[in-house]
Amino acid sequence: MAGITDAKFCLKLIPFGFDMVTLGGYNIDSPTITAGEKILQRGRPEFSINEEDYFEVIYNQAKEIKENWNGLVSVNLRSTTPDPIIQISRIKEVDVVEINAHCRQSEITEIGCGQAMLQDLEHLGEFSAEVVKNSSAKVSVKFRANVLNLNDLEIAKAVESSGCDFIHIDAMKPGFNYADLDIIHEISQNIETFLVGNNSIVDINSAKKMLDAGANGISIARAAMGGRINFDLSKI
Ligand SMILES: Cc1cc2nc3c(=O)[nH]c(=O)nc-3n(C[C@H](O)[C@H](O)[C@H](O)COP(=O)(O)O)c2cc1C
Repeated sequence: MAGITDAKFCLKLIPFGFDMVTLGGYNIDSPTITAGEKILQRGRPEFSINEEDYFEVIYNQAKEIKENWNGLVSVNLRSTTPDPIIQISRIKEVDVVEINAHCRQSEITEIGCGQAMLQDLEHLGEFSAEVVKNSSAKVSVKFRANVLNLNDLEIAKAVESSGCDFIHIDAMKPGFNYADLDIIHEISQNIETFLVGNNSIVDINSAKKMLDAGANGISIARAAMGGRINFDLSKI
C-alpha cells in the first residue's frame, strides 16, 4: 500500500504467519515520481522519494526487514519502462520485484502506467518479459480483475507468456465487498504460474475460500492496515 507499507509496517505483521511481505508501491522513474507527487497533493498516501534517492531508500527498507526476519521481501514498483525495475532487482535483499499493472489513479494511468498497461497486452507481455529476462530477483505481475471491457484470462495468459514467477490478481468485484472467486477459479484452471489471490481477505474463512477457488497463495492489504490482522494465517 503506497505511503504505508515500509519496513517498520511490514515488520509489525511478521507474527501473523506471513511468508512474504511487500514494500511499496514505489514510483521509480521520473514520470511516475511526478504522478505520485500530484496524487500526494490531493491527499492520497504515496511514498515521496526523489529519483536520485529511491534505490538507496528501497535498499535500506529491504535490508531492515532482512536483518529482523528471514522471510521473503517483495517490492511493488511503478515505472513506465522496465529498466528501473531491473535495477531494483539487483538489490540482494529483494527477493521479488512486482510490476504494478494495477494502480488506477488517473495520474498514473495517464502516463500509460499501472492499470493502463492492461490496455495493450502486447506491450504488457514485452515489458514483463524484459524484466524477467534481466531480473536478478523473481518477478511478479499484479493486476486488478474486472476492469471494464477487458478479459482477465487473456491478461493472465499474456503475463504468463513473459515467464514471470507470480501472477498476483486483485479479484475485485465492483460493487461487492467480497472477491470474485469465479475469476480466480477460471484463471487457475488455465495457467501454470503461481497465482496469488487478493481482495477482501479478512478472516480464515475468506482466506480458505480464495485458496479453494484455486489460488496458490493469498495476499492481504486493507485488513492489515492497522499493522495487525485479527487471525493467524498458520491456522489455514
Ligand atoms: C491505501 C492503499 C494503497 C494501495 N497502494 C497500492 C500500491 O501501491 N500497489 C498495489 O499494487 N496495490 C495497492 N493497493 C491495493 C492493495 O494492495 C490491494 O490490492 C487491494 O486493497 C485489495 O486487497 P484487500 O481487499 O486485501 O485490501 C493499495 C490499497 C490501499 C487501500
